[in-house]
Amino acid sequence: MSEIKRLDAESEALIRQREFAQKAKKLLAGRYDHPPLAYVHTFGCQQNVSDGEKIKGMLAEIGYGSADSPETADLVIYNTCAVRENAEDRVFGNVGALKPVKQKRRGMIIGLCGCMVQQQNIAEKIKQSYPYVDLVFGTHALYTLPELLYHRLSGQKRQFSTGDSPGEIVEGLPLRRDGEIKANLPVMYGCNNFCTYCIVPYVRGRERSRHPEDVLAEARQLVQMGYREITLLGQNVNSYGHTLEEQIDFSDLLREINHIDGDFILRFMTSHPKDCTHKLIDTIAACDKVCNHIHLPVQSGSNRVLDLMNRHYTVEEYLELISYARRTIPDVTFSSDIIVGFPGETREDFEQTVELVKKVGYTTLYTFIYSPRTGTKAALMDDPIPEAEKSRWLRELLDVQSAIREEQQGHFVGRTLRVLADGTGRSGEGWLSGRTVSNDIVEFQGPPDAIGRFVEVKIERALNWALFGK
Ligand code: 5AD
Ligand code: SF4
Repeated sequence: MSEIKRLDAESEALIRQREFAQKAKKLLAGRYDHPPLAYVHTFGCQQNVSDGEKIKGMLAEIGYGSADSPETADLVIYNTCAVRENAEDRVFGNVGALKPVKQKRRGMIIGLCGCMVQQQNIAEKIKQSYPYVDLVFGTHALYTLPELLYHRLSGQKRQFSTGDSPGEIVEGLPLRRDGEIKANLPVMYGCNNFCTYCIVPYVRGRERSRHPEDVLAEARQLVQMGYREITLLGQNVNSYGHTLEEQIDFSDLLREINHIDGDFILRFMTSHPKDCTHKLIDTIAACDKVCNHIHLPVQSGSNRVLDLMNRHYTVEEYLELISYARRTIPDVTFSSDIIVGFPGETREDFEQTVELVKKVGYTTLYTFIYSPRTGTKAALMDDPIPEAEKSRWLRELLDVQSAIREEQQGHFVGRTLRVLADGTGRSGEGWLSGRTVSNDIVEFQGPPDAIGRFVEVKIERALNWALFGK
């Protein structure tokens, strides 16, 4: 329990990092003939986006401004994702493209961090085959960026910090948030579930919850700053509190944040169905700021495959949850993740997934072809179905979902919906874009000063990707 280390701004470790930040700042002062610029690009999930905001915060403290592209940057950092192979391929492609850029730009520094480089085989590959990469640091070493950067700027050898660790909780890092309307708020880190296909528990360490006071303080600050939408993040928010000494679960936390005064809405992700309780569903129903939309990844509609995936629930249990939520939360909607082509999945298994998708009627489905990850159990399982066949199944599933979506969208025409306006629309002059509390995209005509506010939109037309109104 309490063996999880919590570092805060006053801890020795972070004071040391701030000292390195100041030393790095001094070194940078004479290094270029212009103020130093950094380009940070994040791949992958919201948790990574949140880490990216911390990287940008630390770099701002060191004195970096932000560059619009790698070509104009003195420091490029790719914050990587390891969840599927194509995410890794993209990173290697991007890093390859930096080689000629670095040759032209004197003193340029390249850093790779995040989940992908936490895997020792990948860190080794970078060491051997990408000699122009200067900094490589895994998820556990994120907060040591000032130190690594200082060492490299002062002429030391390439810096690698990718050691394994059960993980700490680091509070009080400087932050540069990406948006002014919506904010991510991590409530926990890591994962203990070891779904057999998933690399996350290996690269993000053991599950650990932030203290509720830390989460609440950050939530209050976000509301004070005028943020209108807060998304609570964790690989499995439903196991929030397990590592804390106090008796608190995710529902309790949600209620406390809901009590904060202000005009904002609350979302959360991701909810593992095995830990999603009736209490949580009752809490969503009772809390006025919590959106009536649940991201509840099912992964497969076949009990046989769910068992192979180590998911710890059955299709029947999952559907019971959906049905309880429908009875309890008015107008509730669901989204899900699905993996197509898990090792050993048969056509019959896949058809059961299609059945389930039709039964639930998700508003959004995030679909992935299974990608073997070195070190996971599934990577050792027999996988006889050819990729081309898996791709056909995926297209089939997408077609089913597309038809479901079209029908759902039609039902909104004529209704008036509450929308958080979050930017300019894609439909041209005078159009704004926003999201409903169910997370549906709405394009509507309205004044630019509506951006950042909740507005009522009368829906007049529906396409597959968005609703349109005034
Ligand atoms: N292959 C394909 N999809 C995966 N996901 C996680 N690991 C893999 C993998 N090895 C998907 C799951 C998860 C989402 C974030 O990514 O559906 O919910
Ligand atoms: Fe991966 Fe499963 Fe943990 Fe989600 S719950 S991060 S899919 S191991």
